[in-house]
Amino acid sequence: MSQSEEKQSSVNLFSPENMVDPYPLYKQLRDEEPVHYLEEMNLHVVTRYDLLRDVIKRTDDFSSKYDQFMGGAQMEMFNTLSDEQKAEAFKIAQGMIDIPPTMLTLDEPEHTKYRSLVSKLFTGGQVKKSEDDVRAVIEKNVLAMKGKGKIDFMELFAFPVPLEIISDRLGIPRDSESRDFFYEAATSAASALKMAPVPPEQILGRMQTAVDLQKFLIELVEDCRRAPKENMISILSNSKLLDDGGERELTHGEILSVLNQFLVAGHETTASTFGWAMLVLCDNPELEEQIRGNEKRIKTFVEEVLRFEAPVQGLPRVVARDTELGGYALKKGDVMMLRYGAANRDERQFDEPDKINIHREKAGMQMAFGSGVHFCIGAPLARQELNIGFFELLENYKNFRLDPDWGRPVADPSFILRALPELRIEYQSV
Ligand code: HEM
Repeated sequence: MSQSEEKQSSVNLFSPENMVDPYPLYKQLRDEEPVHYLEEMNLHVVTRYDLLRDVIKRTDDFSSKYDQFMGGAQMEMFNTLSDEQKAEAFKIAQGMIDIPPTMLTLDEPEHTKYRSLVSKLFTGGQVKKSEDDVRAVIEKNVLAMKGKGKIDFMELFAFPVPLEIISDRLGIPRDSESRDFFYEAATSAASALKMAPVPPEQILGRMQTAVDLQKFLIELVEDCRRAPKENMISILSNSKLLDDGGERELTHGEILSVLNQFLVAGHETTASTFGWAMLVLCDNPELEEQIRGNEKRIKTFVEEVLRFEAPVQGLPRVVARDTELGGYALKKGDVMMLRYGAANRDERQFDEPDKINIHREKAGMQMAFGSGVHFCIGAPLARQELNIGFFELLENYKNFRLDPDWGRPVADPSFILRALPELRIEYQSV
């Protein structure tokens, strides 16, 4: 075996072990081959902080139009269906509204057109205005933990809190039928981005849920067009997009595309961060006393958790013209796989990157929200939820520990969204 063949075979980013704990492999790649070529997928894996920033900045060389790459992964799943199941899938797909790309997978100038419209929903003023609502949802869920002593933190807190907050902001009706349906459909939409293997029956179920969710949301859009309200769906439905020198309403497909990004990019990611942050507290008992009641330190703690366990481990870019990165030649059409999780542990950027440091200067330089023109538009909301969440959790409870009756929690094997499916903890009231 030649040296490069040996290296290729030892670098299997998609092995379950490496998806569950990618950090040792990331370190190896940063040190030995920061732009690592996976020939079978025509994919260049980028792991160093400075190189990731470079790719994100050079938007003329590296395009965000990567739907085709993501579509390819979905197609592989589709190919696991039997002929009968494929026919069923085609039937379900006929009821689906086409979703055009809006932000995540567009380049300037089209990207800017949508981004400037959607950014109205996340201004500092909007986020400040929602603070009381965010706190109310958190307080309710903190109270639900009273007297229990042992819980699955993901089930009881990390998943429901961001889902309820985004549902309120979107304007999902509060009756239990609407909420139950929406919660199930939103969770199913997010699972699609995990890019983890799924049994065929579940693929059909997910497709049907996606069609039902579209119908549900479009009814709300039309309601809000008839009688505008103060929520995100209403603002989007009644906003005008600057297009071809004129102004027009967003189409149903465009609105669904934006909402889909909120659900997929916004919910699981925040839920995942709640989980990782709780695990960090359990693993580092001394932290509780250091951050309790101290808003500034809790902020740094949250940034450190985002750095330490990036919920979005990576996203692609497509090479738009022949170019190079860090001395590696790249061809138009190649796919770059940016690993935020690896950049965040780069010792060239962060001292002692494998440790949580609540006094770290410039902790906010972490890349969990990306950077540049696609920098996470929901970051102010996510930070608000996490900061208030841990403030309130620590005001009410202490001695968070892993439940000794359960083994150590293990992340779902996923290449993009990385989360703990469950996190069994014990704690006491303050
Ligand atoms: C801890 C929580 C979150 C994390 C780690 C996260 C992560 C990210 C990352 C890495 C990107 C950059 C994508 C790229 O460079 O291609 C992004 C973009 C985006 N995020 Fe988030 N996100 C979070 C929360 C949210 C929330 C709460 C929302 C909305 C409710 C949201 C909506 C979006 C949207 C719409 C984009 C696309 C922006 C654009 O392309 O211009 N995210 N997010």
